[in-house]
Amino acid sequence: MPTITQFLEEKASHALAAASGLTMPALVQATANAQFGDYQANGVMAAAKAKKMNPRELAQQVLAHLNPAEIPATWDIAGPGFINFRLDPAWLGKTLLAAALDERLGVERTSRSETIVVDFSAPNTAKQMHVGHIRSTIIGDALARIFRFLGHTVITDNHVGDWGTQFGMMIVGYRTMLDRAAYDRDPLAELERVYKVIQAQSKADSAVADRAREELAKLQKGDPDNIALWQEFTAVSRQAFERIYARLHVQFDHWLGESFYNPFLSQVVQDLQDKGLARPSEGAICVFFEDDPELAENPFLIQKQDGASLYATTDLATIKYRAETFHPDRVIYVVDSRQQLHFRQLFAAARRWGYTMALEHVGFGTILGEDGRPIKTREGEPIKLEALLDEAEERARAVVREKNPSLSDAEQEHIARVVGIGAVKYGDLLQNRTADYRFSWDKMLAFDGNTAPYLQYVYARIRSIFRRGELEHWRPEPGMVVRLEAPEELDLVKQMIRFADVLLEVERGSRPNVLVSFLYELATKFNMFYQAQPILKAAADIRPTRLLLCDVTARYLKTGLGLLGIETLEAM
Ligand code: ARG
Repeated sequence: MPTITQFLEEKASHALAAASGLTMPALVQATANAQFGDYQANGVMAAAKAKKMNPRELAQQVLAHLNPAEIPATWDIAGPGFINFRLDPAWLGKTLLAAALDERLGVERTSRSETIVVDFSAPNTAKQMHVGHIRSTIIGDALARIFRFLGHTVITDNHVGDWGTQFGMMIVGYRTMLDRAAYDRDPLAELERVYKVIQAQSKADSAVADRAREELAKLQKGDPDNIALWQEFTAVSRQAFERIYARLHVQFDHWLGESFYNPFLSQVVQDLQDKGLARPSEGAICVFFEDDPELAENPFLIQKQDGASLYATTDLATIKYRAETFHPDRVIYVVDSRQQLHFRQLFAAARRWGYTMALEHVGFGTILGEDGRPIKTREGEPIKLEALLDEAEERARAVVREKNPSLSDAEQEHIARVVGIGAVKYGDLLQNRTADYRFSWDKMLAFDGNTAPYLQYVYARIRSIFRRGELEHWRPEPGMVVRLEAPEELDLVKQMIRFADVLLEVERGSRPNVLVSFLYELATKFNMFYQAQPILKAAADIRPTRLLLCDVTARYLKTGLGLLGIETLEAM
């Protein structure tokens, strides 16, 4: 079954072709304003222009080719030549019931299933994850879930930054100034402290810098002691990251960090040179893009003067490896927009190197503090992700305690966790991802607004209706009579049936915020229905329809939030 937009597009395009003799899209989309119907075809104007016809006249002729027996709507012409469609209530009722009886809520698996690698999160080891990693982790996880739901084969890969020049310094710092007790308590925090001190020392004292370089060279040559230390740093980091991912319910199929690609790097540089794509320049080796006006000024450095390879080299090796191992149709990199140039160079180099899969940088903006600057602690440090999640739960706990003092501690704890983590995720996913946004606890945790707690609350409220009616096991029946009459009921169902189109829109632009808006509108339309129409007390002939509306709304909320990585609660 196509989505409603696809269905109307097909019918309207046929009619447009029959009326005009042109093959042009009818450009059907949901209307922004219900006054103009539910869906609108905008393509007549362009066709009329091409035929030098009066657009309203052409629109008339298009209407003559629409078959009322085939299309569950009425239509008319508006403005200069828009065609407005109003969906038929009986059809809406049937569609609602069909969604209710379908495990996937009426969303078909895509017929053009792709293998998609999602590269996201990718923190750097020996450092705690900070607020900068939250966006990649949350957006990447949501996209992976949505692509999977649509029927793609998704491979998630955490490309952790576990290799680099910082490990020479780490090794010196570890050997000279580690506080054992602190390390045993919180190893990653201690490593980070050590790193900061040694970094400052090596800036001030060239002897320290020299020692760090020596240790780095030893590490790179495979010195067993240094390798063992580096492995310890990796393991300690991994444990700390896993703790955060567990709290966020984020999982990866692979953890192929930068170090994994070490054995392939010299071969990559050689191959690019052999193919004439890279060449020496002042002792270093670069890929040049002389024939590309956008990148002509930005050669891609893949080997430094001292022979060391870089982030760029690793990313090239990663493309080769993924192509040979996973055979992806598409690879998306959910990484800060500030790395835009790197990805443009990387993709351009990969194309020349012969890789044809779609490569996309899904960039995102910066999280700002209340002062409009990149968010920091009072001491000017980046905010640790773990501390941020703690605070989210803490604040949610205070709200829950106030609203629901009678709940047990364990219940309050559980609700606080689901609401707190959900609020942080939702507050991020809600944003147009390319924009910077201001972080605000109050906005994120408000129970009345575009927030996770609001949606979770609407969900829990619906579940409580079923409990109150002792209808916990209520299920829609295939033959049930659906009677949609009240305008709030029709509005609610019209919102629900957008779901499949919404997911496709998320997919097209890698934009989870489209799903967020959908869910918020759904919850709002549900509340309007709930305020206007009795449910448990409704007359016997319409009560089943009202319950059906409640049940299916709850399932859309749960499924939609689930696709964003956000949990729901049966009661709160
Ligand atoms: N570790 C990098 C950082 O923290 C992100 C890596 C993203 N993935 C990639 N394949 N380059 O900035």
